[in-house]
Amino acid sequence: MQKIALITGITGQDGSYLAEFLLGRGYEVHGLIRRHSISNTSRIDHILRSNYNKIKFFLHFADTTDSSNLMRLIAEIRPTEVYNLAAQSHVGVSFEVPEYTAEATGVSTIKLLEAIRVNGGNSRYYQASTSELFGGLPETAPQSESTPFYPKSPYGAAKLYSYWITVNYRESYNIFACNGILFNHESPRRGENFVTRKITLAIANIIAGKQEKLSLGNMNARRDWGFAGDYVEGMWRMLQQDKPDDYVLATNETHTVREFVEAAFKELGITVRWEGIGIDEKGYDAQTGKLLVDVNPEYYRPAEVEFLWGNPAKAEKALGWKRKVDFRGLVTMMMDADLKEIAGMSCKEYAQSREN
Ligand code: NAP
Ligand code: GDD
Repeated sequence: MQKIALITGITGQDGSYLAEFLLGRGYEVHGLIRRHSISNTSRIDHILRSNYNKIKFFLHFADTTDSSNLMRLIAEIRPTEVYNLAAQSHVGVSFEVPEYTAEATGVSTIKLLEAIRVNGGNSRYYQASTSELFGGLPETAPQSESTPFYPKSPYGAAKLYSYWITVNYRESYNIFACNGILFNHESPRRGENFVTRKITLAIANIIAGKQEKLSLGNMNARRDWGFAGDYVEGMWRMLQQDKPDDYVLATNETHTVREFVEAAFKELGITVRWEGIGIDEKGYDAQTGKLLVDVNPEYYRPAEVEFLWGNPAKAEKALGWKRKVDFRGLVTMMMDADLKEIAGMSCKEYAQSREN
């Protein structure tokens, strides 16, 4: 039987990797896209350009805050699986647009679940839940499915609603609905204002002489960073089980933002020498003394999730899922992609040129 997937958020980082993954497994893939004044399909253009005779890939204009289009599309497409990835996904921005975040990241979830329920309740449903639910208290790390929730942002609070309404529709209506509680996952397709991509992009621009330095907020925050390509496979595996459940996906490694900065510069053969603390902290090229990194309190958040470190044991055992790319591999992949795009060379080539 032809499997049909509907992906909300298909133009985002995860949506693009998931679409590739499902098309590779022979799925018919439908995605919701929002109308923009300028094209926003850069992450899926390669799919759109590929051979239409061989793949079944369809885009529909829609918005997850609009229940009428969700009802209609579920009725028309009759998806076997629905992956709800659409969200205002930036934690810092959620403090600037809290009401909209509540709508897009929280209330939209019930609109989609209702559309599934009213249309027979037969689609399997994946909810993009998040490690932000845990609040990152150091004493709770490593966090697992049984760690209490304590969201610390409008984004986290909106995702808390989505998490519980997903559990509620599973228990009330017997819908096959799963929460993937995913720790941070990144890639060369990561949005440019998330910290990992901001770092690799800024370093590439500094090397190319297009940017003076990298300015960051809280460099002490710890995250469990994995590769997005690994995580979309975990999403799919959740919907292939006999019973619906909720799972943490993580690498079981944690690093500070500062360590990510150090590792990214290291790819280019640059060692960072740190001086000062708090807003006075600065990072210099240990060899040349050039200022590379400073702190701008503008990037501090009203409340911070300090310490995320995930325990993926349940997913590893029940789903047979395990991350393939480790921290070092992720940094190399992202740094290399940005340097090639901006400066036209690989990290190795730059590091060698520095030695000569
Ligand atoms: P992303 O790159 O920011 O993509 C978000 C997607 O949602 C984009 O396609 C965006 O469309 C779409 N979208 C936003 N509001 C929408 C609306 N009202 N109607 C329709 N589409 C809308 O996010 P991501 O990193 O791929 O993350 C995917 C999901 O996983 C999100 O729900 C995120 O909160 C969650 N999550 C992510 C991580 C992570 O580390 N990446 C970890 C845990 C959970 P436009 O292109 O039109 O803006
Ligand atoms: N964005 C950003 N920009 N973050 C910075 C900066 C900066 O200049 N400087 C320090 N940080 C710190 C943030 O304060 C945070 O502690 C950490 O770097 C990671 O920030 P982001 O990359 O923006 O990601 P996030 O952890 O807040 O949220 C991401 O992961 C969540 C899962 O834990 C997003 O993808 C969410 O959608 C996702 O749910």
